[in-house]
Amino acid sequence: MAKTIGVVSTKGGVGKTSVTASIGAVLADMGQKVLLVDGDFQQSLSSYYRIRNKTDFGIIELITKVSPDNCISTTDIPHLHIIQSNDNKAKLLY
Ligand SMILES: Nc1ncnc2c1ncn2[C@@H]1O[C@H](COP(=O)(O)OP(=O)(O)OP(=O)(O)O)[C@@H](O)[C@H]1O
Ligand SMILES: [Mg+2]
Repeated sequence: MAKTIGVVSTKGGVGKTSVTASIGAVLADMGQKVLLVDGDFQQSLSSYYRIRNKTDFGIIELITKVSPDNCISTTDIPHLHIIQSNDNKAKLLY
């Protein structure tokens, strides 16, 4: 069964991106199928791991119009996938 882990804090610079990237990679190394979702306009998680197959769609299309499957890029790490943030103007916040 799928499980969702949210990493959120109102405080900046406390390790949200690092924790998310690390937990994701550890679970993927353990053989779990992992989907990282970068909801941050800073897009740090989106460039944390090298992307292997990049889709044109990201968090904006996921929320607005495109089916989730079409928004998933793959990374160089087996089992580790990502929906990248393409919201560099923070449109989803305002
Ligand atoms: N366990 C740790 N020990 C030491 N430094 C760490 C640790 N985790 C993260 N850092 C460092 O702390 C800084 C902030 O981490 P990170 O970018 O993950 O935080 P963040 O909460 O995502 O920040 P932001 O609010 O800007 O998105 C980075 O320079 C990162 O390398
Ligand atoms: Mg961050």
